[in-house]
Amino acid sequence: MKLVHLALTGVLAATAFGSTALAQDFDPAAEREAAIAAGDVAKGEKVFKKCKACHKIGEKAKNGVGPQLNHFFAAEIGASEGFKYSKSFLEKKAEGQIWDVEALNEFLKRPKDYIAKTKMTFAGLKKEADRTNVIAYLASIQVAE
Ligand code: HEC
Repeated sequence: MKLVHLALTGVLAATAFGSTALAQDFDPAAEREAAIAAGDVAKGEKVFKKCKACHKIGEKAKNGVGPQLNHFFAAEIGASEGFKYSKSFLEKKAEGQIWDVEALNEFLKRPKDYIAKTKMTFAGLKKEADRTNVIAYLASIQVAE
């Protein structure tokens, strides 16, 4: 059931970003592998220091100022249980957005440009390499349930 849902949200997200990918083409595992291959995980871990004040990741990570980031990758936006997301995040969720590499890259570049009124008060990562590397790091440590 969950997979069907992911596939469905995949097509909506793909449409929203003008991608030609078909719903059945969206494969969370492949997205994760591609993200890891595209960047440098060790460098990404260093970039993640900028995020740590608000985000925890890894075993037993809890929500803090920002949501824990264990299961978000290639999954639905705003899915961390118990975290109070902003209204604009919840709207994106209702539209069926998922966090694929493309969406994450846009969001991390300038969060407020991508999701107006997001609660994530972070200026953004200007350097493309920093974004690619931190995305690789995040994809590499998605904790299995
Ligand atoms: C000042 C605190 C803060 C910093 C620093 C910060 N974030 Fe966030 N982040 C948040 C908050 C708060 C949200 C929830 C946004 C909302 O509800 O509008 C969020 C949301 C997210 C999400 C979406 C998660 C989901 O469940 O949908 C991702 C991914 C993310 N942040 C990644 C990062 C990364 C990577 C960095 C560092 C480069 C970073 N954040 C830095 C506070 C922060």
